[in-house]
Amino acid sequence: MQVSEAVAARRSTRAFLDRPIETALLRDILERAARAPSGGNLQPWHIHLLGGAGMERFRAVMEPKLEAGHADTPEYPIYPSPLAAPYRDRRFAVGEEMYTRLGIPREDKPARLRWFQNNWRFFEAPAGLFLFVDREMGAAQWSDLGGYLQTVMLLLVEAGLASCPQEAWAVHHKTVASFCDVPENLMLFCGLAIGHPDPDASVNALATSRAPSNEWLTIHD
Ligand SMILES: Cc1cc2nc3c(=O)[nH]c(=O)nc-3n(C[C@H](O)[C@H](O)[C@H](O)COP(=O)(O)O)c2cc1C
Repeated sequence: MQVSEAVAARRSTRAFLDRPIETALLRDILERAARAPSGGNLQPWHIHLLGGAGMERFRAVMEPKLEAGHADTPEYPIYPSPLAAPYRDRRFAVGEEMYTRLGIPREDKPARLRWFQNNWRFFEAPAGLFLFVDREMGAAQWSDLGGYLQTVMLLLVEAGLASCPQEAWAVHHKTVASFCDVPENLMLFCGLAIGHPDPDASVNALATSRAPSNEWLTIHD
């Protein structure tokens, strides 16, 4: 597969087949993705991979929290507040496109909320990972995490798998940190749901748009 094919094919996938994935395959992808560059070669990513019985154990911890309506205060603001245009409009647009696919109208807030909770079930994916970063790290190292994450997602595409990056996990960072038993100096950035995409799920037909390049590209030649 060409890199450009993988870039074009990757999309956030929010419904998966009930088909397990070999841990060895995922370990290999996570290790190869560490070829991603990072400033000063700090490699500031810390990954916890959940699959098989590990995922079952995690679900057993998470599900009662969801049923009790538990949430932690996120350790970092997921979006700036207030979120100004054009970012606000793009965020609104993707939300509307997704809930339209799902057939959940804007007025039906409880149904939207219920669906959003699937984030905290890894969208029923058979595998998932959590990406942590040292608290001492700053904006530059957080950008390295993005490079690592995209490399993982592209290698997953090459392996015929799909994924969804999930900042939503920030809302349950204490539960995640406690389950993973990470030291205090690590904080959760996001999760990544991993699995075989469900081709029949309407939400997976969502093909998000991108702003035209004249909104963000300036060329000096
Ligand atoms: C770091 C990161 C965190 C994200 N967090 C979530 C999330 O919590 N839940 C979700 O459904 N999608 C999440 N997304 C997916 C974005 O909504 C998605 O990437 C964007 O709408 C573009 O769509 P595409 O990935 O299909 O191209 C996240 C994406 C990134 C890069």
